[in-house]
Amino acid sequence: MAPDIEKIRSDFPVISGGVVYFDNACMTLKPRQVVEAMNGYYSGYTACVGRSAHRLSDRTSQECSGARESLARFIGGRADETIFTKNTTEGINLVAHSLGLKKGDVVLTTDAEHNSNLVPWQFLSRRKGIVHKVVPTDADFQPDIGFLERELSSGKVKLVSPVLVSNISGTRMPVEKIARMAHAKGALVLLDGAQGVPSSKTDVGRVGADFLAFSVHKMCGPTGMGILWGRKKALESLEPFLVGGETVTDTTYSSAKMEDLPERFEAGLQDYAGMIGAGAAAKYLGKLGMGFIEERKRKLVKPLVEGLLGIEGVSLISPEDPGKYASSLANFTVEGLDHHQVAITLDEVGKIMVRSGRHCVHSWYNSRGIEGSVRPSLYFYNTEEEVEFFLRTLGKIVRDLV
Ligand SMILES: Cc1ncc(COP(=O)(O)O)c(C=O)c1O
Repeated sequence: MAPDIEKIRSDFPVISGGVVYFDNACMTLKPRQVVEAMNGYYSGYTACVGRSAHRLSDRTSQECSGARESLARFIGGRADETIFTKNTTEGINLVAHSLGLKKGDVVLTTDAEHNSNLVPWQFLSRRKGIVHKVVPTDADFQPDIGFLERELSSGKVKLVSPVLVSNISGTRMPVEKIARMAHAKGALVLLDGAQGVPSSKTDVGRVGADFLAFSVHKMCGPTGMGILWGRKKALESLEPFLVGGETVTDTTYSSAKMEDLPERFEAGLQDYAGMIGAGAAAKYLGKLGMGFIEERKRKLVKPLVEGLLGIEGVSLISPEDPGKYASSLANFTVEGLDHHQVAITLDEVGKIMVRSGRHCVHSWYNSRGIEGSVRPSLYFYNTEEEVEFFLRTLGKIVRDLV
């Protein structure tokens, strides 16, 4: 039986404050189960992992390793391949700076990447002379496969790093195909899963990538928590760039013996409450089932997109066909209205929270001469009634302000 939406909504205290929260692609709300798990650590058994031999430390170690296992299970991976990070950005930087890329090595991304999957490669271009190339995408945000093929055939591509699901279009890249093509030419594949992992079932075994970075704060977990998953062999080929306490098992004045995976990538004392909260979030979503979350997306995206298309002056940046969405967001401009003004007015008149701007994909907007856009993004706890209310309120704002 499908879970009861009202019961689910009662898990999220912010919703009962009367807001319509449509800013989930930026960050989702947190259920009380996650907050309670984190508070449980702070008020019940605060201690370090693996440093001390007392019972509080044992409990913290157990809870944190249980959390790692929950996250690994969530993406079909193994716990020793699952590294806790701060966020997607840190995961991508970890790969970028640990892969041993050299002058002339080529890294491919697409032209619709978040700054997190763009700026690290620009830095490496300047500092190490790597060559960063951008694969063009079409109107449906699908990559130019011919371009990719030609670049891969040069034999110089060391890494292909596409976004799994775009945060400006909600569409999914054909990552399985990209991974097959890259591997056939000896290149590794890193996926930016920031939007993809929270919105549909991601099985790292099936996707076929070597690395997957995502943020737990976009999937009901605490802020400042993320995951970098990597295939064991791929992780073993990385040279950690943050080292010190926790990353080693022994040292002399002139040498250090590195920890096994994944701890060798987690330098210094970690955010244990964050890890425990992240584990609780993965469990919460796992219990609901990603199939249910995908079904909610289908239910919500159709009226959202069709409703937006019906408002005069609104133009969609994301697809007009609801069937093309892999996550519950839409992205639009309003003729004659500033995107920030639309967002502020939605909050003022309807307590509706959306994001406006260039959504950290400045490069895409700049290349198309678009100043910015409005992005309502939904999650499983949003309702059809909220979508209707949003559309009604937006329609009125457009009529009154233009
Ligand atoms: C597609 C995509 N990639 C990367 C990020 C960066 O995530 P974080 O700021 O959690 O590192 C985001 C966040 O909005 C995103 O949507």
